[in-house]
Amino acid sequence: MRKYELRSVRTGSLSGAVPVVGIVSAGQLARMTVQAAISLDVPVRLLSQRPDDSAAMVTPGVEVAPVFTREVLERFAAGCDVVTFDDELVPPQVLRALEAAGHVLRPPSGAKLYAQDKLHQRVGLAGLGLPVPAFRAVEGPGDIEAFGREHGWPVVAKAVRGGYDGRGVWVLADAAAGERLRREAAGAGTQLLVEQHVAIVRELAALVARRPSGESVTYAVVETVQRDGMCRELLVPAPVAPGVAREAAALAGRIAEAIGAVGILAVELFETAEGLLVNELALRPHNSGHWTIEGAATSQFENHLRAVLDWPLGVPDLAAPAVATVNVVGAAHGGDPHAALAAALAVPGARVHLYGKSARPGRKLGHVTVVGDRSDDARERANRAVAILTAGKGG
Ligand SMILES: Nc1ncnc2c1ncn2[C@@H]1O[C@H](COP(=O)(O)OP(=O)(O)OP(=O)(O)O)[C@@H](O)[C@H]1O
Ligand SMILES: [Mg+2]
Repeated sequence: MRKYELRSVRTGSLSGAVPVVGIVSAGQLARMTVQAAISLDVPVRLLSQRPDDSAAMVTPGVEVAPVFTREVLERFAAGCDVVTFDDELVPPQVLRALEAAGHVLRPPSGAKLYAQDKLHQRVGLAGLGLPVPAFRAVEGPGDIEAFGREHGWPVVAKAVRGGYDGRGVWVLADAAAGERLRREAAGAGTQLLVEQHVAIVRELAALVARRPSGESVTYAVVETVQRDGMCRELLVPAPVAPGVAREAAALAGRIAEAIGAVGILAVELFETAEGLLVNELALRPHNSGHWTIEGAATSQFENHLRAVLDWPLGVPDLAAPAVATVNVVGAAHGGDPHAALAAALAVPGARVHLYGKSARPGRKLGHVTVVGDRSDDARERANRAVAILTAGKGG
Protein backbone atom coordinates (compact mmCIF):
# COMPACT_ATOMS: atom_id res chain seq x y z
CA MET A 1 0.00 0.00 0.00
CA ARG A 2 1.45 3.34 -0.99
CA LYS A 3 1.45 6.08 1.59
CA TYR A 4 0.44 9.66 0.96
CA GLU A 5 1.51 12.40 3.28
CA LEU A 6 -1.43 14.03 5.02
CA ARG A 7 -1.17 17.79 4.92
CA SER A 8 -3.08 19.96 7.31
CA VAL A 9 -6.61 20.83 6.29
CA ARG A 10 -6.84 24.01 4.31
CA THR A 11 -9.12 26.27 6.26
CA GLY A 12 -12.13 26.64 4.07
CA SER A 13 -14.41 29.18 5.66
CA LEU A 14 -18.01 28.47 6.46
CA SER A 15 -18.79 32.09 5.67
CA GLY A 16 -16.15 32.57 2.97
CA ALA A 17 -16.44 32.93 -0.79
CA VAL A 18 -16.16 29.24 -1.59
CA PRO A 19 -18.30 26.86 0.49
CA VAL A 20 -16.78 23.77 2.09
CA VAL A 21 -18.10 20.52 0.63
CA GLY A 22 -18.12 17.52 2.94
CA ILE A 23 -18.07 14.04 1.42
CA VAL A 24 -19.20 11.11 3.54
CA SER A 25 -17.25 7.92 2.70
CA ALA A 26 -13.99 7.79 0.87
CA GLY A 27 -14.27 5.28 -1.97
CA GLN A 28 -13.22 5.82 -5.57
CA LEU A 29 -16.23 8.05 -6.28
CA ALA A 30 -15.11 10.45 -3.57
CA ARG A 31 -11.55 10.21 -4.90
CA MET A 32 -12.59 11.28 -8.40
CA THR A 33 -14.85 14.00 -6.96
CA VAL A 34 -11.85 15.34 -5.05
CA GLN A 35 -9.93 15.37 -8.33
CA ALA A 36 -12.61 17.63 -9.81
CA ALA A 37 -12.62 19.82 -6.67
CA ILE A 38 -8.87 20.40 -7.06
CA SER A 39 -9.36 22.02 -10.47
CA LEU A 40 -12.04 24.36 -9.13
CA ASP A 41 -10.13 24.90 -5.86
CA VAL A 42 -13.25 23.98 -3.91
CA PRO A 43 -12.35 23.05 -0.33
CA VAL A 44 -13.35 19.47 0.46
CA ARG A 45 -13.54 17.67 3.79
CA LEU A 46 -13.77 13.93 3.78
CA LEU A 47 -15.13 11.48 6.32
CA SER A 48 -13.48 8.08 5.92
CA GLN A 49 -13.79 4.79 7.75
CA ARG A 50 -10.16 3.91 7.18
CA PRO A 51 -7.03 5.99 6.59
CA ASP A 52 -6.23 3.91 3.50
CA ASP A 53 -9.62 4.16 1.79
CA SER A 54 -9.34 5.20 -1.85
CA ALA A 55 -10.06 8.92 -1.41
CA ALA A 56 -8.59 9.24 2.08
CA MET A 57 -5.08 8.56 0.74
CA VAL A 58 -5.15 11.58 -1.56
CA THR A 59 -7.20 14.15 0.34
CA PRO A 60 -5.68 16.46 2.92
CA GLY A 61 -8.92 17.27 4.78
CA VAL A 62 -9.70 13.77 5.97
CA GLU A 63 -11.30 12.75 9.24
CA VAL A 64 -11.20 9.04 10.06
CA ALA A 65 -13.93 7.35 12.09
CA PRO A 66 -14.36 3.57 11.92
CA VAL A 67 -18.11 3.86 12.50
CA PHE A 68 -20.24 6.72 11.22
CA THR A 69 -22.42 7.25 14.26
CA ARG A 70 -24.88 10.11 14.37
CA GLU A 71 -22.46 12.01 16.65
CA VAL A 72 -19.55 11.53 14.24
CA LEU A 73 -21.68 12.74 11.32
CA GLU A 74 -22.99 15.74 13.32
CA ARG A 75 -19.47 16.83 14.17
CA PHE A 76 -18.31 16.36 10.59
CA ALA A 77 -21.30 18.22 9.11
CA ALA A 78 -20.72 21.14 11.50
CA GLY A 79 -17.47 21.84 9.64
CA CYS A 80 -19.07 21.80 6.17
CA ASP A 81 -21.43 24.10 4.30
CA VAL A 82 -22.85 21.27 2.20
CA VAL A 83 -22.64 17.52 2.80
CA THR A 84 -22.74 14.98 0.00
CA PHE A 85 -22.06 11.25 -0.26
CA ASP A 86 -19.91 8.61 -1.92
CA ASP A 87 -22.42 5.83 -1.17
CA GLU A 88 -25.96 5.08 -0.01
CA LEU A 89 -25.09 3.61 3.37
CA VAL A 90 -25.87 6.26 6.03
CA PRO A 91 -29.21 5.15 7.50
CA PRO A 92 -32.19 7.30 6.42
CA GLN A 93 -33.15 8.18 10.00
CA VAL A 94 -29.64 9.53 10.62
CA LEU A 95 -29.85 11.66 7.48
CA ARG A 96 -33.19 13.05 8.62
CA ALA A 97 -31.75 13.87 12.05
CA LEU A 98 -28.86 15.76 10.44
CA GLU A 99 -31.32 17.82 8.41
CA ALA A 100 -33.46 18.47 11.47
CA ALA A 101 -30.31 19.82 13.15
CA GLY A 102 -29.93 22.31 10.30
CA HIS A 103 -27.23 20.67 8.16
CA VAL A 104 -27.54 20.94 4.38
CA LEU A 105 -27.53 17.51 2.73
CA ARG A 106 -27.34 17.32 -1.05
CA PRO A 107 -29.10 15.24 -2.16
CA PRO A 108 -31.63 15.67 0.65
CA SER A 109 -32.64 12.63 2.70
CA GLY A 110 -36.05 12.33 1.02
CA ALA A 111 -34.46 11.97 -2.43
CA LYS A 112 -31.65 9.73 -1.17
CA LEU A 113 -34.20 7.25 0.18
CA TYR A 114 -35.08 6.24 -3.39
CA ALA A 115 -31.56 4.85 -3.74
CA GLN A 116 -31.36 3.39 -0.24
CA ASP A 117 -34.60 1.44 -0.19
CA LYS A 118 -35.49 -0.57 -3.29
CA LEU A 119 -39.07 -1.07 -2.14
CA HIS A 120 -39.60 2.66 -1.61
CA GLN A 121 -38.15 3.19 -5.07
CA ARG A 122 -40.41 0.62 -6.77
CA VAL A 123 -43.55 1.83 -4.94
CA GLY A 124 -42.70 5.50 -5.52
CA LEU A 125 -41.91 5.21 -9.23
CA ALA A 126 -44.89 2.93 -9.91
CA GLY A 127 -47.04 5.53 -8.15
CA LEU A 128 -45.75 8.16 -10.54
CA GLY A 129 -46.80 5.97 -13.45
CA LEU A 130 -43.17 5.19 -14.40
CA PRO A 131 -42.29 1.74 -15.79
CA VAL A 132 -40.78 -0.70 -13.25
CA PRO A 133 -40.69 -4.52 -13.23
CA ALA A 134 -43.71 -6.19 -11.57
CA PHE A 135 -42.83 -6.54 -7.88
CA ARG A 136 -44.14 -7.15 -4.39
CA ALA A 137 -42.82 -6.90 -0.84
CA VAL A 138 -42.03 -10.25 0.82
CA GLU A 139 -43.89 -10.19 4.11
CA GLY A 140 -44.31 -13.84 4.96
CA PRO A 141 -44.17 -17.48 3.83
CA GLY A 142 -45.99 -18.02 0.57
CA ASP A 143 -45.43 -14.51 -0.84
CA ILE A 144 -42.61 -15.55 -3.19
CA GLU A 145 -44.49 -18.66 -4.30
CA ALA A 146 -47.67 -16.67 -5.00
CA PHE A 147 -45.67 -14.11 -6.99
CA GLY A 148 -43.93 -16.88 -8.99
CA ARG A 149 -47.25 -18.53 -9.79
CA GLU A 150 -48.61 -15.24 -11.07
CA HIS A 151 -45.58 -14.04 -13.03
CA GLY A 152 -43.74 -17.28 -13.85
CA TRP A 153 -40.39 -18.70 -12.69
CA PRO A 154 -37.65 -17.80 -12.22
CA VAL A 155 -38.23 -14.69 -10.13
CA VAL A 156 -35.67 -12.26 -8.74
CA ALA A 157 -35.46 -11.51 -5.01
CA LYS A 158 -33.60 -8.45 -3.73
CA ALA A 159 -32.53 -7.15 -0.36
CA VAL A 160 -34.50 -3.95 0.09
CA ARG A 161 -31.48 -2.23 1.64
CA GLY A 162 -27.71 -2.52 1.46
CA GLY A 163 -27.13 -4.46 -1.81
CA TYR A 164 -24.42 -3.50 -4.28
CA ASP A 165 -22.49 -5.10 -7.16
CA GLY A 166 -25.12 -7.83 -7.33
CA ARG A 167 -24.73 -8.80 -3.65
CA GLY A 168 -28.29 -8.80 -2.43
CA VAL A 169 -29.80 -10.07 -5.72
CA TRP A 170 -30.94 -13.69 -6.08
CA VAL A 171 -32.47 -15.49 -9.05
CA LEU A 172 -34.92 -18.05 -7.67
CA ALA A 173 -35.80 -21.07 -9.81
CA ASP A 174 -38.78 -22.30 -7.81
CA ALA A 175 -40.88 -21.98 -4.68
CA ALA A 176 -38.54 -24.15 -2.60
CA ALA A 177 -35.56 -21.89 -3.39
CA GLY A 178 -37.74 -18.91 -2.54
CA GLU A 179 -38.74 -20.28 0.83
CA ARG A 180 -35.12 -21.17 1.71
CA LEU A 181 -34.01 -17.63 0.95
CA ARG A 182 -36.96 -16.09 2.78
CA ARG A 183 -36.14 -18.00 5.96
CA GLU A 184 -32.47 -17.15 5.77
CA ALA A 185 -33.25 -13.48 5.17
CA ALA A 186 -35.78 -13.38 8.00
CA GLY A 187 -33.16 -14.92 10.30
CA ALA A 188 -30.64 -12.26 9.30
CA GLY A 189 -33.19 -9.42 9.60
CA THR A 190 -32.98 -8.70 5.85
CA GLN A 191 -36.16 -7.37 4.24
CA LEU A 192 -36.81 -8.72 0.72
CA LEU A 193 -38.81 -7.79 -2.32
CA VAL A 194 -39.51 -10.12 -5.22
CA GLU A 195 -39.86 -9.09 -8.83
CA GLN A 196 -40.31 -10.55 -12.29
CA HIS A 197 -37.22 -11.92 -14.02
CA VAL A 198 -36.97 -9.47 -16.89
CA ALA A 199 -35.94 -10.60 -20.38
CA ILE A 200 -33.28 -7.94 -20.80
CA VAL A 201 -32.18 -6.91 -24.30
CA ARG A 202 -29.61 -4.44 -22.94
CA GLU A 203 -28.87 -2.67 -19.69
CA LEU A 204 -28.69 1.10 -19.99
CA ALA A 205 -27.97 4.01 -17.68
CA ALA A 206 -29.05 7.61 -17.94
CA LEU A 207 -27.29 10.25 -15.85
CA VAL A 208 -28.70 13.62 -14.90
CA ALA A 209 -27.08 16.39 -12.89
CA ARG A 210 -29.60 18.59 -11.11
CA ARG A 211 -29.27 21.74 -9.00
CA PRO A 212 -31.51 22.53 -6.03
CA SER A 213 -32.86 25.45 -8.02
CA GLY A 214 -34.06 23.01 -10.69
CA GLU A 215 -31.61 23.40 -13.61
CA SER A 216 -30.53 20.02 -14.93
CA VAL A 217 -28.41 18.50 -17.68
CA THR A 218 -28.61 14.96 -19.06
CA TYR A 219 -25.69 12.89 -20.38
CA ALA A 220 -25.77 10.62 -23.41
CA VAL A 221 -27.39 7.29 -22.58
CA VAL A 222 -24.89 4.50 -21.84
CA GLU A 223 -25.01 0.76 -22.40
CA THR A 224 -23.74 -0.95 -19.25
CA VAL A 225 -22.43 -4.43 -19.99
CA GLN A 226 -22.74 -6.61 -16.88
CA ARG A 227 -21.01 -9.86 -15.94
CA ASP A 228 -21.85 -11.77 -12.73
CA GLY A 229 -24.13 -8.97 -11.55
CA MET A 230 -21.37 -6.39 -11.86
CA CYS A 231 -20.98 -3.62 -14.43
CA ARG A 232 -17.90 -4.36 -16.56
CA GLU A 233 -18.11 -2.11 -19.63
CA LEU A 234 -19.69 1.20 -20.65
CA LEU A 235 -20.44 1.93 -24.30
CA VAL A 236 -21.36 5.50 -25.21
CA PRO A 237 -23.55 6.40 -26.91
CA ALA A 238 -25.57 3.25 -26.25
CA PRO A 239 -26.23 1.38 -29.51
CA VAL A 240 -30.00 1.84 -29.29
CA ALA A 241 -32.64 3.35 -31.54
CA PRO A 242 -32.81 7.16 -31.20
CA GLY A 243 -36.31 6.87 -29.74
CA VAL A 244 -35.04 4.59 -26.95
CA ALA A 245 -32.22 6.99 -26.08
CA ARG A 246 -34.64 9.91 -26.01
CA GLU A 247 -37.06 7.99 -23.81
CA ALA A 248 -34.29 6.97 -21.40
CA ALA A 249 -33.11 10.57 -21.07
CA ALA A 250 -36.66 11.83 -20.60
CA LEU A 251 -37.33 9.19 -17.91
CA ALA A 252 -34.21 10.21 -16.00
CA GLY A 253 -35.16 13.89 -16.20
CA ARG A 254 -38.68 13.18 -14.96
CA ILE A 255 -37.41 11.09 -12.06
CA ALA A 256 -34.85 13.72 -11.04
CA GLU A 257 -37.60 16.33 -10.93
CA ALA A 258 -40.19 14.11 -9.21
CA ILE A 259 -37.94 12.97 -6.36
CA GLY A 260 -36.08 16.28 -5.96
CA ALA A 261 -32.67 14.81 -6.79
CA VAL A 262 -29.64 17.06 -6.27
CA GLY A 263 -26.22 16.28 -7.69
CA ILE A 264 -25.84 13.30 -10.00
CA LEU A 265 -28.78 10.95 -10.37
CA ALA A 266 -28.00 7.69 -12.19
CA VAL A 267 -30.99 5.75 -13.48
CA GLU A 268 -30.23 2.10 -14.29
CA LEU A 269 -32.60 0.83 -16.96
CA PHE A 270 -33.52 -2.47 -18.60
CA GLU A 271 -34.23 -2.30 -22.31
CA THR A 272 -36.80 -5.00 -23.15
CA ALA A 273 -38.74 -5.92 -26.28
CA GLU A 274 -41.71 -4.08 -24.74
CA GLY A 275 -39.84 -0.90 -23.78
CA LEU A 276 -37.78 0.47 -20.90
CA LEU A 277 -38.04 -0.48 -17.21
CA VAL A 278 -36.32 1.34 -14.37
CA ASN A 279 -34.06 -1.00 -12.39
CA GLU A 280 -32.54 1.20 -9.73
CA LEU A 281 -31.44 4.70 -8.84
CA ALA A 282 -28.20 6.04 -7.42
CA LEU A 283 -28.00 9.58 -6.04
CA ARG A 284 -24.28 10.19 -6.34
CA PRO A 285 -21.64 9.93 -9.03
CA HIS A 286 -21.98 6.45 -10.45
CA ASN A 287 -19.86 3.79 -12.13
CA SER A 288 -21.92 4.24 -15.30
CA GLY A 289 -20.63 7.83 -15.54
CA HIS A 290 -16.89 7.17 -15.37
CA TRP A 291 -16.66 7.65 -19.13
CA THR A 292 -17.50 11.35 -18.67
CA ILE A 293 -14.01 12.20 -17.36
CA GLU A 294 -12.53 12.03 -20.87
CA GLY A 295 -15.69 11.45 -22.90
CA ALA A 296 -17.84 14.46 -21.99
CA ALA A 297 -17.31 18.20 -21.96
CA THR A 298 -17.91 18.18 -18.18
CA SER A 299 -17.35 15.11 -16.03
CA GLN A 300 -20.04 13.71 -13.75
CA PHE A 301 -17.75 14.49 -10.80
CA GLU A 302 -17.41 18.18 -11.67
CA ASN A 303 -21.14 18.44 -12.35
CA HIS A 304 -21.92 16.70 -9.07
CA LEU A 305 -19.88 19.36 -7.25
CA ARG A 306 -21.38 22.19 -9.26
CA ALA A 307 -24.88 20.84 -8.61
CA VAL A 308 -24.48 20.37 -4.85
CA LEU A 309 -23.10 23.93 -4.66
CA ASP A 310 -26.07 25.15 -6.75
CA TRP A 311 -23.65 26.55 -9.31
CA PRO A 312 -24.22 26.63 -13.11
CA LEU A 313 -23.84 23.15 -14.59
CA GLY A 314 -21.34 22.29 -17.29
CA VAL A 315 -22.44 21.06 -20.70
CA PRO A 316 -22.61 17.25 -20.82
CA ASP A 317 -21.90 16.90 -24.56
CA LEU A 318 -19.90 13.97 -25.91
CA ALA A 319 -16.27 14.77 -26.62
CA ALA A 320 -15.99 12.17 -29.40
CA PRO A 321 -18.30 10.00 -31.51
CA ALA A 322 -17.56 6.90 -29.39
CA VAL A 323 -16.42 6.30 -25.83
CA ALA A 324 -15.70 2.95 -24.18
CA THR A 325 -14.88 2.43 -20.52
CA VAL A 326 -13.90 -0.94 -19.09
CA ASN A 327 -13.64 -1.62 -15.36
CA VAL A 328 -10.43 -3.05 -13.94
CA VAL A 329 -11.75 -5.85 -11.74
CA GLY A 330 -9.36 -8.03 -9.72
CA ALA A 331 -9.02 -11.42 -11.47
CA ALA A 332 -8.88 -14.79 -9.69
CA HIS A 333 -5.15 -15.17 -10.26
CA GLY A 334 -4.50 -11.57 -11.24
CA GLY A 335 -1.58 -9.48 -10.09
CA ASP A 336 -1.39 -5.90 -8.88
CA PRO A 337 -2.39 -3.57 -11.75
CA HIS A 338 0.32 -1.11 -10.69
CA ALA A 339 2.88 -3.66 -11.84
CA ALA A 340 1.40 -3.58 -15.34
CA LEU A 341 0.64 0.14 -15.51
CA ALA A 342 3.42 1.11 -17.90
CA ALA A 343 2.56 -1.75 -20.26
CA ALA A 344 -1.14 -0.79 -20.25
CA LEU A 345 -0.29 2.82 -21.06
CA ALA A 346 1.35 1.62 -24.26
CA VAL A 347 -2.12 0.85 -25.65
CA PRO A 348 -2.90 3.85 -27.86
CA GLY A 349 -5.46 6.19 -26.31
CA ALA A 350 -5.88 4.16 -23.11
CA ARG A 351 -6.63 6.50 -20.21
CA VAL A 352 -5.99 4.51 -17.06
CA HIS A 353 -7.55 5.28 -13.67
CA LEU A 354 -6.47 3.26 -10.63
CA TYR A 355 -8.24 3.75 -7.34
CA GLY A 356 -5.38 2.96 -4.95
CA LYS A 357 -6.98 -0.29 -3.79
CA SER A 358 -5.12 -3.51 -3.13
CA ALA A 359 -5.91 -6.23 -5.68
CA ARG A 360 -8.47 -8.84 -4.67
CA PRO A 361 -10.56 -11.07 -6.94
CA GLY A 362 -13.86 -9.40 -7.84
CA ARG A 363 -12.86 -5.97 -6.49
CA LYS A 364 -13.20 -2.87 -8.70
CA LEU A 365 -9.65 -1.54 -8.81
CA GLY A 366 -9.90 1.05 -11.57
CA HIS A 367 -11.13 1.67 -15.08
CA VAL A 368 -9.79 2.45 -18.54
CA THR A 369 -11.44 4.82 -21.00
CA VAL A 370 -10.74 5.16 -24.71
CA VAL A 371 -12.41 7.85 -26.82
CA GLY A 372 -12.44 7.50 -30.59
CA ASP A 373 -14.33 7.53 -33.83
CA ARG A 374 -15.60 3.94 -33.69
CA SER A 375 -17.16 2.08 -30.79
CA ASP A 376 -15.71 -1.36 -31.62
CA ASP A 377 -12.19 0.08 -31.86
CA ALA A 378 -12.49 2.08 -28.61
CA ARG A 379 -13.91 -0.98 -26.87
CA GLU A 380 -11.17 -3.27 -28.13
CA ARG A 381 -8.40 -0.92 -26.99
CA ALA A 382 -9.94 -0.36 -23.54
CA ASN A 383 -10.32 -4.13 -23.07
CA ARG A 384 -6.76 -4.71 -24.23
CA ALA A 385 -5.41 -2.29 -21.61
CA VAL A 386 -7.58 -3.87 -18.89
CA ALA A 387 -6.40 -7.38 -19.85
CA ILE A 388 -2.82 -6.20 -19.37
CA LEU A 389 -3.67 -4.62 -15.99
CA THR A 390 -5.42 -7.71 -14.66
CA ALA A 391 -3.11 -10.39 -16.07
CA GLY A 392 -1.59 -12.84 -13.60
CA LYS A 393 1.92 -12.43 -12.24
CA GLY A 394 4.36 -13.03 -15.02
CA GLY A 395 1.44 -13.15 -17.49
N1 LIG B 1 -35.61 -8.21 -12.31
C1 LIG B 1 -34.48 -8.59 -12.90
N2 LIG B 1 -34.50 -9.40 -13.97
C2 LIG B 1 -33.34 -9.81 -14.57
N3 LIG B 1 -32.12 -9.42 -14.16
C3 LIG B 1 -32.03 -8.61 -13.09
C4 LIG B 1 -33.19 -8.14 -12.41
N4 LIG B 1 -32.81 -7.31 -11.42
C5 LIG B 1 -31.46 -7.27 -11.45
N5 LIG B 1 -30.98 -8.04 -12.45
C6 LIG B 1 -29.54 -8.21 -12.81
O1 LIG B 1 -28.74 -8.07 -11.64
C7 LIG B 1 -27.90 -6.91 -11.71
C8 LIG B 1 -27.78 -6.26 -10.35
O2 LIG B 1 -29.07 -5.84 -9.90
P1 LIG B 1 -29.27 -4.47 -9.12
O3 LIG B 1 -28.76 -3.36 -9.96
O4 LIG B 1 -30.68 -4.37 -8.68
O5 LIG B 1 -28.37 -4.76 -7.86
P2 LIG B 1 -27.26 -3.99 -7.07
O6 LIG B 1 -26.38 -5.02 -6.51
O7 LIG B 1 -27.91 -3.03 -6.18
O8 LIG B 1 -26.59 -3.19 -8.20
P3 LIG B 1 -25.22 -2.50 -8.49
O9 LIG B 1 -24.39 -3.55 -9.17
O10 LIG B 1 -25.68 -1.46 -9.44
O11 LIG B 1 -24.63 -2.02 -7.24
C9 LIG B 1 -28.57 -6.02 -12.75
O12 LIG B 1 -27.66 -5.14 -13.32
C10 LIG B 1 -29.11 -7.09 -13.73
O13 LIG B 1 -28.06 -7.58 -14.54
MG1 LIG C 1 -27.50 -1.99 -10.25
